[in-house]
Amino acid sequence: MTQKIIILDFGSQTTQLIGRRVRELDTFCEILPYNKFPKDDPSVIGVILSGSPYSVHDPDAFKVDLSQFVGRIPVLGICYGAQFISHTLGGKVEKADSREYGRANLETVDVSNPLFRGFEEHSQVWMSHGDTITAIPDGFQVIGSTKDVTNAAFWNTRDVWAVQFHPEVFHSLQGTLLLRNFVVGICGSRQQWSAASFVDSTVAELKQQLGHDRVILGLSGGVDSSVAAVLLHRAIGSRLTCIFVDHGMLRKNEFRQVMDDYQGLGLNVVGVDASAKFFADLSGVTDPEEKRKIIGRDFIEVFNAEAKSIINSSPSVEGEEGAVRWLAQGTIYPDRIESLNITGKVIKSHHNVGGLPKEMNLQLCEPLKWLFKDEVRRVGRQLGMPEHLITRHPFPGPGLAVRILGDITPEKVRILQDADDIYIRALREWGLYDQVWQAGVVLLSTVRSVGVMGDERTYEHPVALRAVTSTDAMTADWAHLPFDFLAQVSNEIINKVRGVNRVCYDISSKPPSTIEWE
Ligand code: XMP
Repeated sequence: MTQKIIILDFGSQTTQLIGRRVRELDTFCEILPYNKFPKDDPSVIGVILSGSPYSVHDPDAFKVDLSQFVGRIPVLGICYGAQFISHTLGGKVEKADSREYGRANLETVDVSNPLFRGFEEHSQVWMSHGDTITAIPDGFQVIGSTKDVTNAAFWNTRDVWAVQFHPEVFHSLQGTLLLRNFVVGICGSRQQWSAASFVDSTVAELKQQLGHDRVILGLSGGVDSSVAAVLLHRAIGSRLTCIFVDHGMLRKNEFRQVMDDYQGLGLNVVGVDASAKFFADLSGVTDPEEKRKIIGRDFIEVFNAEAKSIINSSPSVEGEEGAVRWLAQGTIYPDRIESLNITGKVIKSHHNVGGLPKEMNLQLCEPLKWLFKDEVRRVGRQLGMPEHLITRHPFPGPGLAVRILGDITPEKVRILQDADDIYIRALREWGLYDQVWQAGVVLLSTVRSVGVMGDERTYEHPVALRAVTSTDAMTADWAHLPFDFLAQVSNEIINKVRGVNRVCYDISSKPPSTIEWE
């Protein structure tokens, strides 16, 4: 049985980060809404209560019945989780005179307590709270204090720990050690969740689940669908058929390269060049949302037609030559986590191929549905996939269509592909590619500016280079690329790409901007 830690989400922005930290300790965990603690699950070895945008005194504050786990399994309350424990068990939580936000140091820390084993004096922690715990409940003992926060960490012998700071964030310098002490030292994790164990158990489960059935999977060239494909291929071999649709708005030569990569991995891939259809349907369309809708609709049409023809040419009887019964997707865990927003409503966001007709009667197979992005990459490496497939930057589904302002023509796509190719190649050559989350060029085809080349006046389009650093694309900062690098790329683009006479660098962060321009 796989041991697991339950993380109860009270709506904090860092709840997912707690999950990732626990996984980094080779321990499986599930993030669940605060009121969904699983009853009678013997695999649960500990529970962590997250932070929250609420104060415990808010009438709408999220509440959990602590008796479900206190005294049964170890509990760690973080920030709001600590305040909730204190408030509910008889301590006191009050508005802080000033919000306690940012760096602090543990002035006193009880290193004999198992939570703080190995801690250094004055260890830096990260605070972010408006309320403060002015009295801890009876039976609890303070085990850590900062200059301003006396009750920064406390515990009782019923295996309840509470910390006012955020061990999951990078700025709590020994935060990972604290989580290790809790997960491994206190909860007794055997640390058996690893890429290798995931591959072994998932391949065995997929074999069992799929039997002789055939599976169809849509590839995008991105890491998630590629790893899902290789994992499935390991389980069912050629009974997996992958479909890779070229909508004409991929990067330069990408369709061919990705097809070669996939075939090199032994995958059975059907490549469909549908670019003519997409260009025809996008002709004259300038509105970004309209472009997205058309591409989404066309994509489903092309994918479905291909899937149907594969289904029709496969036998419909069971046996060695099984029928197509499954649609596989590279859905990953963050796509499925039910997250709470501050209005108290539970939102479920779930990626879906959408629109697969019911008569196809396919069941969904999502082999990566428990993994975070960094785990998907580790699984890819475990499966022996080439590094350039694993570290490839995210790329939007509608491709270059959302990087061309105004209407889309094959000529504009060609210009953008050439400029983008110079930029991405240079990022690789300068060793910068892996330092940024995502990069690309935007063609400002609704704008023209004057330039001079040789003796001739030009009146052409500018392009904007975009590169951002991020961990999840929810927030992003512009990457501080070296000026010498930008100068080289600018020169090369203007000299080699016809139709472009000016290069700008986008220095906007998200929020308030977005990563893509459309
Ligand atoms: P934004 O522009 O919203 O992008 O900051 C965040 C991340 O999502 C990608 N993106 C898309 N991906 N279909 C996709 O599959 C889309 O329509 C789309 N729009 C943006 C973007 O590239 C970035 O990684």
